[in-house]
Amino acid sequence: MSAANQIEVPPIRVALLGCGTVGSEIVRLLTEQADDIAARSGAPVELVGIAVRRADRHRDVPAELLTTDAAGLVTRDDVDVVVEVVGGIEPTRQWLLAALNAGKPVVTANKALLAEHQGDLFAAADASGADLYFEAAVAGAIPLLRPLRESLAGDRITRVMGIVNGTTNFILSAMDETGAGYAETLQEASRLGYAEADPTADVDGYDAAAKAAILASLAFHTRVTMSDVYREGIAAVTPADVAAARGLGRTIKLLAICERVLDADGTESVAVRVHPAMIPRSHPLASVGGAFNAVFVEAEAAGQLMFYGQGAGGAPTASAVLGDLVAVARNRVIGGRGPRESAYADLAVRPIAQASTRYHISLDVADRAGVLAAVAAVFAEHEVSIAGVRQEGRPQDASLVVVTHSAEDAALRSTVDKIAGLPFVNEVVSVMRVEGEDS
Ligand SMILES: NC(=O)c1ccc[n+]([C@@H]2O[C@H](COP(=O)([O-])OP(=O)(O)OC[C@H]3O[C@@H](n4cnc5c(N)ncnc54)[C@H](OP(=O)(O)O)[C@@H]3O)[C@@H](O)[C@H]2O)c1
Repeated sequence: MSAANQIEVPPIRVALLGCGTVGSEIVRLLTEQADDIAARSGAPVELVGIAVRRADRHRDVPAELLTTDAAGLVTRDDVDVVVEVVGGIEPTRQWLLAALNAGKPVVTANKALLAEHQGDLFAAADASGADLYFEAAVAGAIPLLRPLRESLAGDRITRVMGIVNGTTNFILSAMDETGAGYAETLQEASRLGYAEADPTADVDGYDAAAKAAILASLAFHTRVTMSDVYREGIAAVTPADVAAARGLGRTIKLLAICERVLDADGTESVAVRVHPAMIPRSHPLASVGGAFNAVFVEAEAAGQLMFYGQGAGGAPTASAVLGDLVAVARNRVIGGRGPRESAYADLAVRPIAQASTRYHISLDVADRAGVLAAVAAVFAEHEVSIAGVRQEGRPQDASLVVVTHSAEDAALRSTVDKIAGLPFVNEVVSVMRVEGEDS
């Protein structure tokens, strides 16, 4: 007798919204592992409906399960749990609110929706007592949100920093390996299937920013939304930046950084940003190549933790969704509830102008006496402390690279603006943040 047959509790009836890259893998795993999932959940988990946009495209799933009416499916009486892998904000938000308002637990992989509307969704979940799980929304298969929400709930997280977008990591890794330019490498990534037809959400940093908002909210018990996240994409990264990084033993990664900041007066706030940054080649994040994701979490008692694995893809993402589905099913069987929103700390979010980090500034200057001293004077005037300088003469001009100690973004920008206007500065070639080194 199979494990499922031994269970005499009623099945947990699941509506699946979306049957694309992730949804089709959820269907496959739910079918192939039905007995194991039932045994682990304490009840059989049964698919009772699948909402898609074009029913004729899904000949591999039972036709009687398919519908194009997602709104109707979520409120059907024979649906206990809603799993959403459609994506987008509307009408998905309406479907999930309808499910939660009706007391039906929701499992979603939708980072864009959570990063904008976590407040509405959690409020609806709280009002009806329904679960809201979203492990798959950040870093695909990597168990990361559950450690933040549960395992580290007794600790104080100070920093979360990581590579959370596989497309941009693939492009930057390839640029580092080949020395090729951004546009050419993006084309190659598209050809190999690592970039979407419209790569904007990835390359402009929106995807990583949505994930950063979710991570910061959980890490700092504060509601952080997409508009709170400072964002820069990778389109402006040049082969010269990559070569400059390499020359200094560094590599460039698109990082999502969420920090708890303590002001001089003891006030705490959070800073959340996504931008390309140079990191030392010896840093553990430097060796995260291709489409992989990795996230560093620093907590006061736990110290440093690193989470690494496949951050996207149908099966890896489905794995995270199914983990959540089993958690929801277990909660239903025992009559409990998973963690609710924890936003009690309600810390202020700092504007980027007040964020501090180290910078690498590369200048093209006239090769003559006094240039270095004049540039250094501008740094001193803005109280930006210099950690190192490298100057190389060329036939007509010179390259001057300055690496700073930790400086506020606003001070650094004023410094660079003034330097750009100096008569002997031909060009500010690049300004890039440096992470993963002592300040
Ligand atoms: N792909 C990944 O690696 C990954 C990783 C982490 C998180 N996610 C998240 O998972 C979600 C789904 O991603 P995906 O890559 O699986 O997307 P996808 O392949 O584009 O699939 C989307 C599915 O939604 C269905 N759909 C679209 N509009 C609909 C509507 N109005 N009513 C009913 N169904 C509708 C589509 O139906 P048709 O098939 O009929 O067009 C399709 O089955 C997104 O939120 C994404 O951010 C994806």
